[in-house]
Amino acid sequence: MACLQFVFNFLVATLLLLKCVGNAAPCEDCFTQSRAAYYPNSDDKGTETGRCGYGTFGATINDGDVAAASDLYEDGLGCGACYQVRCANSKYCSDKGVTVVITDHGSSHNTDFILSSRAFGRMAQNADAAASLLAFGVTDIEYRRVSCSYPNTNITIKIDESSNNPHYLAFVIWYQQGMKDITAVQLCETESYVCKVLDRSYGAVWTSSSPPTGGALSVRMLFSDEKWIVPLNHIPTNWKPGDVYDSGVQLTA
Ligand SMILES: *[C@@H]1O[C@H](CO)[C@@H](O)[C@H](O)[C@H]1NC(C)=O
Repeated sequence: MACLQFVFNFLVATLLLLKCVGNAAPCEDCFTQSRAAYYPNSDDKGTETGRCGYGTFGATINDGDVAAASDLYEDGLGCGACYQVRCANSKYCSDKGVTVVITDHGSSHNTDFILSSRAFGRMAQNADAAASLLAFGVTDIEYRRVSCSYPNTNITIKIDESSNNPHYLAFVIWYQQGMKDITAVQLCETESYVCKVLDRSYGAVWTSSSPPTGGALSVRMLFSDEKWIVPLNHIPTNWKPGDVYDSGVQLTA
């Protein structure tokens, strides 16, 4: 009897555990309820001074459908991630909403996102509805992570203006497709294969105060699925601040 009781208790416990795990499992496609505002200073599009460090690119990427994230910024890990954001008011809002790229860090009025005003308006069904929505300033939304898509574009390395060859190298990684985050970057000199793990300085900016010298530099990227991507193209030894290099590789969207 004691044994049967034990088996029964064990089964109940297992069922309860399974139920808990089931409830806790993240739902990849599900929307999360939240709120969004838009940049007050508005520039219609994005910002050149966003915390991700994208510079002018931050204002033009994704045609200006960009956003600052609060918690989802995750100390820069969230930079470049794409989210589908749709507002809740069926009178004004479209089903599709808008897809934004994270380029900045910030929050206002307990929001998860501050959208560019262009992106905020694009959640609406039409121009009149957009005007009403913008007049509210803050709105209830729901969002989910989606794959970023940059057709006919490879992952691109932009040498930051703060760089100084050969003493200090800072660069930003642009146009990363898909739903993965870059969790680490290794800089390898391609003659002797001396490699260095770089620091995420802030946002999407990676830096090295003494980059390997001697040969061209390969920027190897580690993604959140724990796979390394090795670019086909290298940063030449004569790199200059402001230069832009096509890595020759891309992730699937
Ligand atoms: C992307 O990289 C591939 C492989 O190096 C190259 O053939 C292609 O031209 C690149 N695409 C663009 C748009 O530069």
